[in-house]
Amino acid sequence: MRKLSIASAVGVGLLIANGAQAADAAAGRVKAETCLGCHGVAHYVNTYPTYHVPKLGGQHEAYLVAALKAYKDKQRSHGTMHANAAALSDEDIADIAAYLSSIK
Ligand code: HEC
Repeated sequence: MRKLSIASAVGVGLLIANGAQAADAAAGRVKAETCLGCHGVAHYVNTYPTYHVPKLGGQHEAYLVAALKAYKDKQRSHGTMHANAAALSDEDIADIAAYLSSIK
């Protein structure tokens, strides 16, 4: 199953790589590694303050991009996610969204 999702992530990356502004799902997989410490764990609850961490895999690519930009610009206020999104470039965000939307 894991092999399958990696293969499909690479496939999506190759497909999109033909476009001009290529979002690179394979690069996104590497960039999303820190994110999965929180988002990759099913039913993960942050210790303090206590909140549920939403599942990202399989969410819509455009939605993920919009959410990350909103955290980055502080239109969505969440300390932890602002800290995570602030360091990301638009390219990083596109790559990560391409990867996350490709996994189930
Ligand atoms: C320390 C834990 C933690 C880390 C690390 C983290 N996040 Fe999050 N993330 C959260 C929490 C908690 C929320 C819910 C915040 C809220 O309620 O707005 C969230 C929300 C989100 C959302 C919105 C999801 C939705 O359904 O609206 C996205 C997208 C997201 N994170 C992406 C990322 C990405 C990409 C990274 C890595 C660059 C990352 N996160 C790293 C804890 C984390």
